[in-house]
Amino acid sequence: MLQNFIFAKKTMQTNKIIIAIDGHSSCGKSTLSKQLAKKLKYNYIDTGAMYRAVTLYALRNKLIDNKQVDKNALINALPNINISFVYNEKDEKSDTLLNGENVENEIRNIAVSENVSPVATIKEVRQTMVALQQKMGTQKGIVMDGRDIGTVVFPEAELKIFMTASDKVRAQRRYDELFAKGIEVSFNDVLQNIKERDQIDSNREESPLQKAPDALVLDNSCLTREEQLDWVLQKVKEINHAH
Ligand code: DC
Repeated sequence: MLQNFIFAKKTMQTNKIIIAIDGHSSCGKSTLSKQLAKKLKYNYIDTGAMYRAVTLYALRNKLIDNKQVDKNALINALPNINISFVYNEKDEKSDTLLNGENVENEIRNIAVSENVSPVATIKEVRQTMVALQQKMGTQKGIVMDGRDIGTVVFPEAELKIFMTASDKVRAQRRYDELFAKGIEVSFNDVLQNIKERDQIDSNREESPLQKAPDALVLDNSCLTREEQLDWVLQKVKEINHAH
């Protein structure tokens, strides 16, 4: 079974809520989520990392050929895929472990990025991930980002944010991120990958990316990180006052 979520950092804060952050690829969900988790002393769960880790497993075990996923083989392999998180003190965030191995860097590479969307369309993969994500939220005090957090994983989340930004702004951000890590890719390939993922994520049958009716829209094309963080913290404050 996929299990074992380890968090070295726990919070004793009162009025803990669930913050669900959904939105398009590369629009800064994880940056915002990490900032929020740090500020509020919440746990942060990057659900995209979970789908990426499953994809990495599938690639390593030759269950994907030319972007074609051997769906039945992957479903059968699910019990052998153990995903966990370990808190990384230095980077002040959780690293993703696949069967005990730290794969935090490897799951961000272009091969995984190119193949993750088809893996994330598989119903059985999603059901397994969602069950785990829901388990992690039972204590509240959590910031979770993904595509279906406000709609499927935590429809009762106290705060739901739907993030977006133009595809060119998002491609530039992802390109800069990869460049800073020394990963060489062309801007056009990154833009193409983002467009493809938007297309698959928004049109798949299983839990497509959708704004929950009660989610607040945050278009950060023209916002700084600090501005968007302040905006969300203000919403958290308002929710705490209301409670
Ligand atoms: O956020 P990200 O780019 O790391 O996500 C990787 C892929 O996983 C992306 O194509 C969409 C998919 N995903 C999903 O379907 N549901 C989630 N809750 C999170 C990610």
